[in-house]
Amino acid sequence: MSQPSVSSRLDEIRALEADHVLQTYRRNPVALVRGEGVYLYDTEGTKYLDFLSGIGVSSLGHGHPGLAAALADQAGRLAHTSNLFFHPLQGQVAARLARLSGLPRAFFTNSGTEAVEACLKFARRYWHTQGITTRTSYVALDHGFGGRTMGSLSVTWDDHYRAPFKPLIGDVRFVSAEDPAALLAAVDETTAAIIAEPIQGEGGVRPLSPAFADAIRQACAATGALYIADEVQSGLGRTGTPFHFQTLGLAPDLVSIGKALGAGFPVGAALISERVANTISYGDHGTTYGGNLLACRAALVYLEALDEGGLLAHVRRAGAHFEAGLRALAARHPVAADVRGAGLMWGLVLSVDAAPVVPAALARGLIVNRTNERVIRMLPPLVITEAEIDRGLALLDEVLGDVFGSQA
Ligand SMILES: Cc1ncc(COP(=O)(O)O)c(C=O)c1O
Repeated sequence: MSQPSVSSRLDEIRALEADHVLQTYRRNPVALVRGEGVYLYDTEGTKYLDFLSGIGVSSLGHGHPGLAAALADQAGRLAHTSNLFFHPLQGQVAARLARLSGLPRAFFTNSGTEAVEACLKFARRYWHTQGITTRTSYVALDHGFGGRTMGSLSVTWDDHYRAPFKPLIGDVRFVSAEDPAALLAAVDETTAAIIAEPIQGEGGVRPLSPAFADAIRQACAATGALYIADEVQSGLGRTGTPFHFQTLGLAPDLVSIGKALGAGFPVGAALISERVANTISYGDHGTTYGGNLLACRAALVYLEALDEGGLLAHVRRAGAHFEAGLRALAARHPVAADVRGAGLMWGLVLSVDAAPVVPAALARGLIVNRTNERVIRMLPPLVITEAEIDRGLALLDEVLGDVFGSQA
């Protein structure tokens, strides 16, 4: 079957969108039409080295033959059933996620924000089922990001995202991740759950410190509050372990995942401990699409690559190589103030606004992202090789020279 007729001209694509697509995204002036491995190609045939993977999503790179074949096969058999029926794949994905995370049950969603919403709801349900109706509040972190739907937005810190949509869920307290004592003071007998990303992504690639992880453990032990680890960005191998909470020695009651799971197909999940799962009943939560056959087939391809395919070990090796190269690059540029991250999730923190870096990188054929104003965020496909990392960092080196001139 042929493709629908589409324009391959950037100006036509932009004009049609300008007329008919809600203008919520300030896009880069590039239309991407094809990908292979860690490379993307635009309408003009220009090649880009992808250091962002669609914000941490294209975990297996682009045009992955195994994923393409599995999705084509599944689309030809059966794409969707709704959750009114069994199908053979949800249990298989859930069992793999249970083995990787230690949390025995999964609820499937279509996105990260829905995974966070599910965790927020399940935390309240946990207390409600026990007849405790006063534990409804959440404690979240400064710089935290949970997504754009009302619940997730309520535990998102940046007022730029929140202000136009207030009132949000009222009982959310934000504390600084630099201040373990503030967390201990904020969590009390009204707290349903603490929610924290083990490495904050949108907020500027900020790993939680061991001292703060310790405070989460203490606060939960002292008050019984649940801990929700939002691993939508940091989870599923991105940092070289299945989940970053494991590196921090945390034992969350709920974990939200998304992004890497479908390797490009939209799928997320809430992972749930037995004690929370035991408080959830039929009908408590649901979604039409969540965990359909296409989504689960994509997730199985990814989880097989992660587990049996050696991807985790690859991320550890490639991540160490990335870190060494990035730190060497930072040392050459006085504008670089800090390097933060783990595995293949990195932020290069500048002493000035990083906004000019993104177009300058595109001009040199490199895709990176700016977040939290001064941070250049890099989330390459997890299959990236050391040679490709060296190529990308060499391009970034040139870009920083283009934009900021001085080399130490
Ligand atoms: C930590 C975290 N949680 C939740 C989300 C929301 O995921 P989605 O954009 O798939 O709704 C994101 C997205 O960037 C994220 O980084």
